[in-house]
Amino acid sequence: MKKPDTDFTMSDGDFFKLRAIVHRNTGITIGETRKTMLVSRLRRRLREVDEPSFASYIFRLASDPGEIQELTNRVTTNETYFYRTPRVWDYFQDVFLREFQERGESLRMRVWSAAASTGEEAHTIGTILEQQRLENPGFDYSVLGTDVSSRVLDVAQKGVYNGRSIARFRKEQPALFASHMQGSDAEGYKAVPQIRARLKFKLHNLLERLGGTSPFDAVFLRNVLIYFTGEDQEKILRHVRDLIKPDGVLFIGESETLNNLRTGFEQLAPIIYRPSARVSSPCA
Ligand SMILES: C[S@@+](CC[C@H](N)C(=O)[O-])C[C@H]1O[C@@H](n2cnc3c(N)ncnc32)[C@H](O)[C@@H]1O
Repeated sequence: MKKPDTDFTMSDGDFFKLRAIVHRNTGITIGETRKTMLVSRLRRRLREVDEPSFASYIFRLASDPGEIQELTNRVTTNETYFYRTPRVWDYFQDVFLREFQERGESLRMRVWSAAASTGEEAHTIGTILEQQRLENPGFDYSVLGTDVSSRVLDVAQKGVYNGRSIARFRKEQPALFASHMQGSDAEGYKAVPQIRARLKFKLHNLLERLGGTSPFDAVFLRNVLIYFTGEDQEKILRHVRDLIKPDGVLFIGESETLNNLRTGFEQLAPIIYRPSARVSSPCA
């Protein structure tokens, strides 16, 4: 018979070990006061894998690397929705895209949604760039969405959205929504095939370098830096800096800032950055 949830208690020692495992594998720092959160996110997993206690689960993590991915899937916070923070999209459409077209040096835009979660951000980018493609012959794009959680990437690959996830986009950008999302309230909405063909999702840990890719014109690193220490934030931003074109743009989350970090980026507007000149980069 399965144990009821209440049988699982986490000692301070187990909490300390689990926090260390999560930090080592994802960079995410779980605050000292978040034991209850961790218990509630993991106790169902203990039941699923038939572990009688957190101590035995920790033992399992040491001998079963696949379980680390399951742990990661459960401890990450994946809140996201289409068209989050409208001023990011205003800048992207009205300033960045216009300047990109005016520069005219390349007609192919590459964008990275670097903590993509379930894919709403990458799909928002896709709808905006698809509109641009239709209006500007020769323009084309690709969007890469990456995340450390395999669970959210499965949702992103399926790309079916409904309810709160699309509500704001639908309300504030009705024409874009109607032109580029197909479906129904009953079955959910999917981006048109032309967009889906240009979106790719891939498992990636921001603490590691993203290999096998050429530089990006725009990077969305939004609502993820908050989970890391300053040192890890700098490390992640160094990786991003290496993969962004000199004319590129970086968007971060509305409650995040690069102030007080050595990053090689300079601010264009709140939460919007560009790479500073490489010669003087403190990260070189
Ligand atoms: C709150 S969501 C942000 C989603 C989207 N960028 C947005 O702003 O709406 C944060 C995402 O960061 C991912 N994440 C956390 N640590 C990560 C890491 N080390 N590498 C890559 N992704 C990570 C989580 O799995 C989660 O899906």
